[in-house]
Amino acid sequence: MLKHPVNIIIRGWRCGNYPILTAIYIFAAMASTSNEDLFKNIISHSREYGFIFQSSEIYDGLSAVYDYGQNGVELKKNIRDYWWKSMVQLHENIVGIDAAIFMHPTTWKASGHVDAFNDPLVDNKDSRKRYRADVLIEDHVAKMEAKIQKEVEKARTRFGDAFNEHQFRATHVRVLEIQQKIDAINQRFKTALETGNLEEVRKIILDLEIACPVSGTRNWTEVRQFNLMFSTQMGSVSEDASTIYLRPETAQGIFVNFLNVQKTGRMKIPFGIAQTGKAFRNEIVARQFIFRMREFEQMEMQYFVKPGTEMEWYHTWKETRMNWHRSLGFPEGKHRFHDHLKLAHYANAACDIEFEFPFGFKELEGIHSRTDFDLGNHEKFSGKKLQYFDPDLNQGYIPYVVETSIGLDRMFLAVLSQSYHEEKLEDGSERVVLRIPSFLAPVKCAVLPLVKKDGLPEKAREIMDRIKFDHLCMYEEKDSIGKRYRRQDAIGTPFCITIDHETLQDNSVTIRYRDTMLQERIPVTQVEEILMEKVDMATPLRQLT
Ligand code: GAP
Repeated sequence: MLKHPVNIIIRGWRCGNYPILTAIYIFAAMASTSNEDLFKNIISHSREYGFIFQSSEIYDGLSAVYDYGQNGVELKKNIRDYWWKSMVQLHENIVGIDAAIFMHPTTWKASGHVDAFNDPLVDNKDSRKRYRADVLIEDHVAKMEAKIQKEVEKARTRFGDAFNEHQFRATHVRVLEIQQKIDAINQRFKTALETGNLEEVRKIILDLEIACPVSGTRNWTEVRQFNLMFSTQMGSVSEDASTIYLRPETAQGIFVNFLNVQKTGRMKIPFGIAQTGKAFRNEIVARQFIFRMREFEQMEMQYFVKPGTEMEWYHTWKETRMNWHRSLGFPEGKHRFHDHLKLAHYANAACDIEFEFPFGFKELEGIHSRTDFDLGNHEKFSGKKLQYFDPDLNQGYIPYVVETSIGLDRMFLAVLSQSYHEEKLEDGSERVVLRIPSFLAPVKCAVLPLVKKDGLPEKAREIMDRIKFDHLCMYEEKDSIGKRYRRQDAIGTPFCITIDHETLQDNSVTIRYRDTMLQERIPVTQVEEILMEKVDMATPLRQLT
């Protein structure tokens, strides 16, 4: 059922002899689409329009590994650029590097990844399926939370405007009962993990009567720790070969280069080093499309500060990063902070910026106060001093580090899922439109001759040849203009320029806006001006400062 008219547009301009409607109502068709269906639609849309393909698809794919297609690679590059510019270009005291994926194996001893980068896994003996023990328990808890939510929604319907959710949750007997059980499970699970008691983790799974979704049985093996790092051999002769790892985070490439950059760049604390690049994790449960992948890309920045000032910088970076996310103009309430209760071995404070994906609020970015753990350990393991000499204090120290770490693929999924809209128009037709922020859109402008004759293609090419130096544009002359508009909507192109017979006479074109479908007649000379103004990354960047 279509409920919400989201826009009314009066169109009074015309584009050649393409029929013009004077008023078009757009309805949000998503009101009738469940989140699960919506997510499925997003996945198939991204394949159909060249954003994301399953890796090695002709061999039936490789689990949790994906390739970016012709439009995906552009969107991904633009997100990366926006992050890079906001970090490196806008901060005089942040510089970038590009470290190798392979690092000396001792790096991962020093960082703690060899000993502690583990997930607890458990197998079902009947289905032979492998699961993350923590995910089984978390999913069970999520189901209990869903029961509470159901009670809340029932009461909301019953009491209408007078409903006070906070009071309801604090007083309703059944809700309180479920919440108490949830708290008890969480506490028991937290203690088991903290004390490394894997037998207790297994007992929790058994006590909660969690069954394998495939076999339906509770025939579980013991819980074991599973290291998430991929390893390979370096060296051509087996006797000489040593085990090396594919980096599970880009951060360590920054730590081991800390003094190289500080000295060669004459950096003064506080300063930052930024990096984007691939990271690899042998995730046991890889699901939710590109949300959890085995090969993914991170955008990380390590900010080196004077010990004792790290909390101040931690709060500053929390705010700075949240502002960056908000600058994309997504609706209020799509982002939230989630403070970590259980801190990683290297952190004295940590939080996530969560985003509301179609499958709920999930981690998009992490902000961590990493103390001097990494530099301190690299100093210990390498035997090389990694100290900063502070000219103001006239003494050396190991700096503390505040890290911001965001998954580029996850950010891509956030943009894609937020931009995807299924719309029904008043004339009965439907469209899928990606309302991607213009400066991130893969293609900025489509140049479309109305027909393939009468000199229109030549004129269109002339325009294309002028604007292609500044923006990625697409020239298209196949199919009706309506079909071409829909194709551009589907890949998120913010502007279409249509060249018709009138163009040959008065050098004017029709510009069509993706979001409103509004069409306007403008002189050709204005095209570049409009594009510059609307798709320039400098505009949102200016708002960040
Ligand atoms: N250097 C710190 C670090 O790596 P993390 O929380 O493990 O911290 C940071 O990862 C970000 O990397 C996450 O917030 C997420 O966006 C992304 N990320 C982590 N694992 C991922 C995976 N398997 N697939 C896609 N993105 C992932």
